[in-house]
Amino acid sequence: MKMITINFAALTKRSKCVCTAFLCVSMTAGNRVIAQSRTDNPAFSPGILITLFLIALVVLFMVAMVMVKTYGAVQRLSKKKKDEDDKGVESYIFSMEAGDIDRILQKRSAALHYILPENSLSGQDRTEDKAGVIQHTRQDVHATFIPFKRKADKRPEIDPQLARLVTWYMICATFWLIFGTTVGEYVGIKFVLPDADHLSWLSFGRLRPVHTNAVFWGWASIGMLGMGYYVVPKVSNTPLASIKKGYIALITSNLAVLWGTLLLMSGVNNGGGEFREYIWPVMVLFGVGLVLTLVNFLDTIKNRKTTEIYFSNWGIVSAIIFVLVIVFVSYWPGWQNGLGETIMQGYYMHESVGMWFMMFNLGLLYYFLPQQLNRPVYSYSLGILAFWTQILFYTVIGTHHFIFSAIPWWLQTVAIVGSVGMIIPVVSGTTNFLLTFKDGGWAKIASSYTLPFFLTGILFYFIGSMQGVAQAFRETNLIWHFTDFNVAHSHLTMYGIITFILWGCMYALLPRLTGKEPAHGAVGFHFWLALIGLLFYAIPLMIGGTLKGQMWMEGKPFIDSVILMADYWLWRAIGGSMMWLSHLVFAYNIYSMINGTNVLKRNELQRLHVMEQNNVK
Ligand code: HEM
Ligand code: HEM
Repeated sequence: MKMITINFAALTKRSKCVCTAFLCVSMTAGNRVIAQSRTDNPAFSPGILITLFLIALVVLFMVAMVMVKTYGAVQRLSKKKKDEDDKGVESYIFSMEAGDIDRILQKRSAALHYILPENSLSGQDRTEDKAGVIQHTRQDVHATFIPFKRKADKRPEIDPQLARLVTWYMICATFWLIFGTTVGEYVGIKFVLPDADHLSWLSFGRLRPVHTNAVFWGWASIGMLGMGYYVVPKVSNTPLASIKKGYIALITSNLAVLWGTLLLMSGVNNGGGEFREYIWPVMVLFGVGLVLTLVNFLDTIKNRKTTEIYFSNWGIVSAIIFVLVIVFVSYWPGWQNGLGETIMQGYYMHESVGMWFMMFNLGLLYYFLPQQLNRPVYSYSLGILAFWTQILFYTVIGTHHFIFSAIPWWLQTVAIVGSVGMIIPVVSGTTNFLLTFKDGGWAKIASSYTLPFFLTGILFYFIGSMQGVAQAFRETNLIWHFTDFNVAHSHLTMYGIITFILWGCMYALLPRLTGKEPAHGAVGFHFWLALIGLLFYAIPLMIGGTLKGQMWMEGKPFIDSVILMADYWLWRAIGGSMMWLSHLVFAYNIYSMINGTNVLKRNELQRLHVMEQNNVK
């Protein structure tokens, strides 16, 4: 048989694509024809098929010819018409006087070179805004490297005691962010330089939980509570029930994280349970702060001057109730052994991220997003739908952490179904937030230094949660469960959602408490460094994690997967370093908003004096 050969290497890129596509199509079609010709149906016999193919070729050729001929005829006709028009214009121009032609040309030239004077629309008078409607005007209208950002609007007077309390919460949370992520950065570097040190206090096994617990309980939890202390009285339209309880809760939470950190570093921990490594007395101390906060918030809501309880209060209060239940259940002595402990561990892990961090943050978002956009949230009903479906589904998905374990198969299936059900609250929540940007909200992003943080948090809420849904199926979990893919998911969610939203809240609130703005360029620097760093961190881990999982399934030696991951871990260290640097910028921004203001001043007279000097309301 004679074969046609093609020198593939000599072809251009385009021809290669065409050839490849052609070969694929013909091979598929060929296979099908041969397969079908094996049947007894005479209509599919090779002779009939080849005849049909040849007829189709002839028909195709004829159609192509007709199209080419028609196109040529149309071209000729339109050219003839154009020639006739040109002749008409030519005879018109020759029939005109010479002076008329010059006048028309001069008029056209003047119109083409006309420049609108700056005052042609406003007249000669200076513009004046007697009603005080126009704000934030600027003289420099040239393109700038850093876009212009609006200043925070002045708000009605905030109770100085509350302002001081909330600011302290922010300062402590920022401290734990820097501490926790410095440890995370070091843990990440250890993947690249495993022999960086040989001290037991700094070993990977001890530092990893120091990182996760410091960012969980120190940064995210204390930060959220601080925001809650502002939002709950605000949406209840009444003062906070007790400032004192707020301080006690702040002190006990900080002491708990400090104590827990020292114990973990010295090797004293709760055993295996992830994010549950603090021993029970530490969690009792943290729990004291939570109980005090819950009582304080409930008292405030009881004294509210509004008829309804706004969504934010539902989210914040239920998050605190949930976390207390979760911590109590997971530290209860009766559930510390056997399979029950594993089921409870799964429940604990996902409830703490979903019902504590996510629920609390949703409550904050329902206050801060409409406030920053200066418009009500798109739909209250969508918010309610998201709230109840989140409670319905999130509370049953914990076992998806232990797919293929000895836990009953049906319970694993319940967790998978619940994970898919999470699409309902996530889609309704995201839709609600994005539609709140409708009708002008999108345009505000460019001139706001807080909205980019909120928008990023909302987008990661959707992306991270959908990624979680994808991870929950048996087929996918088989590949990803033990790999770095999970670590990418943890950071896309805990960092992309929770941390970005908290930053947005803090940048929105602190200037209102202190009367001082951060440098807009520094906020932008923080934002981009953190966002790009996160992508550098998570994307390589997702790719590397998938390849690693596939390698294991192919039965390749474990060490091969370690060698494979080396490059991806390097990218994680680079991304992590960018994130860490961005936190230093954030800490500086917090400092710059507080420095030189009266917000932390204790003495009332001293406070008022500085307020007058700074002309702060
Ligand atoms: C500079 C920023 C950060 C760096 C460099 C970093 C680094 C790390 C590293 C190296 C691990 C261990 C991963 C492993 O065992 O393979 C880790 C785990 C973790 N980090 Fe971070 N982290 C950072 C920020 C954060 C923040 C702000 C949060 C939460 C608010 C967070 C939450 C977590 C969680 C939940 C885990 C456990 C992951 C899992 O088991 O799936 N991290 N981080
Ligand atoms: C809403 C839908 C979500 C679903 C269905 C989901 C599902 C999952 C699944 C299947 C895993 C991997 C379990 C494993 O193989 O071990 C996982 C891990 C994790 N998820 Fe999600 N997730 C969701 C949202 C979130 C959110 C919003 C957060 C944080 C705010 C979060 C934080 C985490 C963390 C920290 C881990 C790592 C736990 C570990 O160290 O083993 N997830 N998630």
